[in-house]
Amino acid sequence: TESWIAVIDRSEVPEGDVIGLVVAGRDIALYEVEGDIFATDNLCTHGKARMSDGFLDGREIECPLHQGKFDVCTGKALCAPLTEDIRRYPVRIDDGRVWLQLG
Ligand code: FES
Repeated sequence: TESWIAVIDRSEVPEGDVIGLVVAGRDIALYEVEGDIFATDNLCTHGKARMSDGFLDGREIECPLHQGKFDVCTGKALCAPLTEDIRRYPVRIDDGRVWLQLG
């Protein structure tokens, strides 16, 4: 069984946007999509850029460096120049906080 870590208050995640935070030494991006929260690695799988500096449009995050896009709900790479999906993490909301399972 994996352990869950409370990372931030739910109310601190801006609606329709992305934020970055470091959890247990890992650089994580959190996304708010129509009331749900999703989490992925923050670092792009293509280069040295952070998703938290990118642009979230619905469930698609656009990398700020070469405009590659990922689906934040699945981690799937959606277009060039991306060739590798981004790792996503299970999220749950409990007691007004966002919990992640880093595995
Ligand atoms: Fe993200 Fe190139 S660094 S698309």
